[in-house]
Amino acid sequence: MSTQELKSMDESAESTVHKPVLVTEVLEYLNPQPGNTYLDVTFGSGGHTRAILTKEPSCKVIAMDWDMKALEQFGFPMQAEFGERLQLIWGNFSLLYKILKKEAIQSVDGILADFGTSQVQIMERAGFSVYRDSPLDMRMSPPHQQVTAADVLANSCEEKLRQIFWQLGDERYAKQIARAIIEQRTKKRIQTTMQLADIVSHAVPHDSRSKIHPATKVFQALRIYVNKELANIESLLAVSLQVVRSGGRIVCISFHSLEDRIVKRFFQEQEQKGLMHILTSGAVMAKASEIRQNPSARSAKLRAAQIGQEVAKI
Ligand SMILES: C[S@@+](CC[C@H](N)C(=O)[O-])C[C@H]1O[C@@H](n2cnc3c(N)ncnc32)[C@H](O)[C@@H]1O
Repeated sequence: MSTQELKSMDESAESTVHKPVLVTEVLEYLNPQPGNTYLDVTFGSGGHTRAILTKEPSCKVIAMDWDMKALEQFGFPMQAEFGERLQLIWGNFSLLYKILKKEAIQSVDGILADFGTSQVQIMERAGFSVYRDSPLDMRMSPPHQQVTAADVLANSCEEKLRQIFWQLGDERYAKQIARAIIEQRTKKRIQTTMQLADIVSHAVPHDSRSKIHPATKVFQALRIYVNKELANIESLLAVSLQVVRSGGRIVCISFHSLEDRIVKRFFQEQEQKGLMHILTSGAVMAKASEIRQNPSARSAKLRAAQIGQEVAKI
């Protein structure tokens, strides 16, 4: 993961409202049409959903989020505004096929997925911010997940912790940090963000040139691990072929290089099989003018593809 990507994460912690990224590009590639139905599987604060509903006044959006609080805080008020044009569904997008079957939704005209966490979650939910002292939780849907970040630190062996930090955080001092955690946890359970931030800060050499907090990568790695974020994306993409109608589109925004790699490879594989046609040449990035207004957009990468005609539906 690049310093830019991590810096964006840190900067996002300074904001209390989630600003949607690449809105113009999302509308260009999703290309909402009159009377069509689109699925926003990562509703968050509803910025993209609102843009779609506003751009095409006769389309409908089915908006999902795994974080019930996001739907309550931003979804319910928007429903009052858009009425039946906005349908809210709580759920994990990795179970999309099952969820849509239950709702008797046969197919949609397009899917938008804006992966990762919202700035609201970073500011308001327990465990996400390296700058705010809170219980080391990091679950996006606490009532439906048993394992917290504190549990991972308490129960994983040194090698497992090293792998998490190295593979999911690209943390070069993964080994030293894993060792420091094992040493500390024999004295006291690590259960707050500040405890972890402190342990990491003492375990790694001080780099005065770095603009990011020394524990940023460790926090990111734990969050991805606790929420199974990469596996969820793989499940979503696999099912998108069944859920989006022929000629419909899928638009994905990634903030992490591992997420982007999964999307890129999936699109390429499906294109080779003749099941998808890639619409973006390379990843679409935010323009300098957007990054000036919203530094979080700096690491966003958008890829879009169109479903081919041959795919069997549900
Ligand atoms: C980057 S935010 C999306 C922001 C949104 N596009 C907006 O305009 O406000 C990502 C959202 O996806 C949700 N999310 C993450 N993983 C999910 C999953 N597996 N299933 C459903 N929602 C998920 C998070 O709870 C978060 O609200």
